[in-house]
Amino acid sequence: MRYSLLAPGKRLRPILCLLSAEALECSPSMAINNAAALEMIHCYSLIHDDLPAMDDDDLRRGRPTCHIQFDEAMAILAGDALQALAFEIILADAINPTTAAMSCLVLAKAAGAEGMVGGQVDDLQAEKNGGDATFLHAIHARKTGALIRASVVLGGIAANASPEQLEKLANYGDCVGIAFQIVDDLLDVEGSSENTGKRTGKDHQRGKLTFPGIYGVQASRERAEQFVEQAISNVEAFGPAARPLKQLAHYITARSH
Ligand code: IPE
Ligand code: IPE
Ligand code: MG
Ligand code: MG
Ligand code: MG
Repeated sequence: MRYSLLAPGKRLRPILCLLSAEALECSPSMAINNAAALEMIHCYSLIHDDLPAMDDDDLRRGRPTCHIQFDEAMAILAGDALQALAFEIILADAINPTTAAMSCLVLAKAAGAEGMVGGQVDDLQAEKNGGDATFLHAIHARKTGALIRASVVLGGIAANASPEQLEKLANYGDCVGIAFQIVDDLLDVEGSSENTGKRTGKDHQRGKLTFPGIYGVQASRERAEQFVEQAISNVEAFGPAARPLKQLAHYITARSH
């Protein structure tokens, strides 16, 4: 669990959570447990995503994947335990049990069959059966977008956001989530394993349904940039406190890892 969780990832989801609390002028420390829980769910999804039964990858965050370093059984179990720990950490020392329960509900939905896991199911089935642009959008929105949306919503919940504020944050998260997975697809085509810390060129090899596969590289990049602009417009109303969230949205398309 430590080997994978503490490896040098970007920490995008916890950062989004903390910046969302900040955008509502709340101390990020109020959202720290939610932030840690998001990284645990994300890390569990990566460990399982890399298993031979899924994407069969041997490099993650610049290191051997969990099942290569240990073995498949330990990788499955490390992922399972990280998932449980995510909910434990939100509930264990909750200052406000009601907001903690709301956070767990949002996170469970985002992680499960309606969200990330469902998206992973479709991602694998599309390897075999293909799919159109609508299916591609749905896969990306669920396998990656759902947890990114939950990241900003969990920051908002910790900051006692109003329903209107939560909706704006959720819309920002939806757009950033799609943009993020489009760029992930682009980095698989254009990036190197030195930069990304994972093998590249794998999506085409496995017959994944991807943005560059359907739209080409140039149009995919343009779409990612459009989603980033759309994300930013959703947090305009928060004023100067949302500046870091806007900057982070720009980083999504600028990143090379
Ligand atoms: C990789 O996520 C998997 C996707 C959902 C695209 P990240 O690119 O955020 O991976 P880390 O956390 O930085 O390793
Ligand atoms: C993974 O998408 C999404 C997850 C839920 C983990 P990818 O399979 O494209 O992620 P990478 O490229 O292996 O990081
Ligand atoms: Mg995958
Ligand atoms: Mg993968
Ligand atoms: Mg990928």
